[in-house]
Amino acid sequence: MPAHRVALIGFFTSVAGARASLPAGCELVGLCDIRQDLLERCRKEEPAMFVTDDFRKIAAMPNCDSVVAWTPNATHRDIAVACLGAGKNVFIEKPMGINLAQGKEILEAERKSGKFCAVDLEYRVSRFGKAVKEILDSGELGEIRQVDLEHHRGGWLCDTPSGTYRTKKEFSGMMKMEGIHYIDLFRFWLGPMKKVQAFSAPNTLPHYEFPDNVTAMIWFANGALGRYTTSHNKAGYTAGADMVKGPTQNHVLRWILTGTKGVLLADGWTQRIDVLRYEARPAGTNSLKAEFERRIDFSGLVNPHDAFHDIAGCRREFLRRMAAGQPPVQRAEDAYRSECIAVAVDEAMSVEGGVVECTEG
Ligand SMILES: NC(=O)c1ccc[n+]([C@@H]2O[C@H](COP(=O)([O-])OP(=O)(O)OC[C@H]3O[C@@H](n4cnc5c(N)ncnc54)[C@H](O)[C@@H]3O)[C@@H](O)[C@H]2O)c1
Repeated sequence: MPAHRVALIGFFTSVAGARASLPAGCELVGLCDIRQDLLERCRKEEPAMFVTDDFRKIAAMPNCDSVVAWTPNATHRDIAVACLGAGKNVFIEKPMGINLAQGKEILEAERKSGKFCAVDLEYRVSRFGKAVKEILDSGELGEIRQVDLEHHRGGWLCDTPSGTYRTKKEFSGMMKMEGIHYIDLFRFWLGPMKKVQAFSAPNTLPHYEFPDNVTAMIWFANGALGRYTTSHNKAGYTAGADMVKGPTQNHVLRWILTGTKGVLLADGWTQRIDVLRYEARPAGTNSLKAEFERRIDFSGLVNPHDAFHDIAGCRREFLRRMAAGQPPVQRAEDAYRSECIAVAVDEAMSVEGGVVECTEG
């Protein structure tokens, strides 16, 4: 079978590294970034590789089947529309542009192209996402009545190109930029949402143009209730794979799902999922108590974040499917639904009472 031809826009530091990031059956045919020093290095490393600072030239490549892009939010719509319009499958980063209208443009371009577009919402294809989904689908926990997520992390800084745009309201929002991952995971696990309510305390990070903390309540169509508390101003830890430093700097990432038959706890920092089942105490009565039943242990991975935050795995799975002529795990249309909820939460914080009915697109 001929190799599936792939070009990368952003997120590479060398030709060899870019090539190594592709799954079997894929061939690297082009690289694009606006960083001239990086392009120069790549040209020296491999003069025959097509290297450009203009994504339109990647879109126009006749010998390219799929494009993977990792670039700032304001570029997502233009890159996706250009590449889909030129007959390429496209994998873009979240969010789908800087507002919902841009997301719609991407969906329209995908529809017209007959190609696939997918968005990097990697939590649902990561080990945690899939393992929890399997447990829920097995019925082991009964009907899920409640899901809680506690997430505290260090903020984006102003002294990096990324931080500068990431904290600007014009390009983002706390939920649109980050909460979308967790909202998408909630939707994957528990289905559609119908209403959200959200609040935030006044910011302590003056460089954040959007709230640096959010508490959201989420009503699911199936009757379950979600609570999602997140902040960027309570922890010192920002990024990397150091699983010792995180908790000592107050970084918290923990989900609890409560069902009619038991409880599940998934902890990002220990990479463990614990399942507790309700047992009758005393036996034979309807007086129930949750008891530890088993542990699923993902600790020991080379990159511990891969347990829940497997970006490389998500893009490899996309390319593997494109090479095999299969649809992506999640269509862009479904990612857009998560984006609509994320935007609803971002909006709810500025609405009297904080309540917004959701339509998921
Ligand atoms: N899925 C996830 O978990 C996850 C995590 C972090 C960031 N992201 C997303 O990744 C994207 C990029 O993130 P970042 O802020 O770290 O990136 P960044 O600002 O470092 O930019 C990434 C690369 O894109 C290049 N670039 C910028 N504009 C370009 C253009 N017009 N054409 C070609 N290349 C261009 C930059 O030079 C850089 O090398 C954002 O949309 C962000 O939301 C996703």
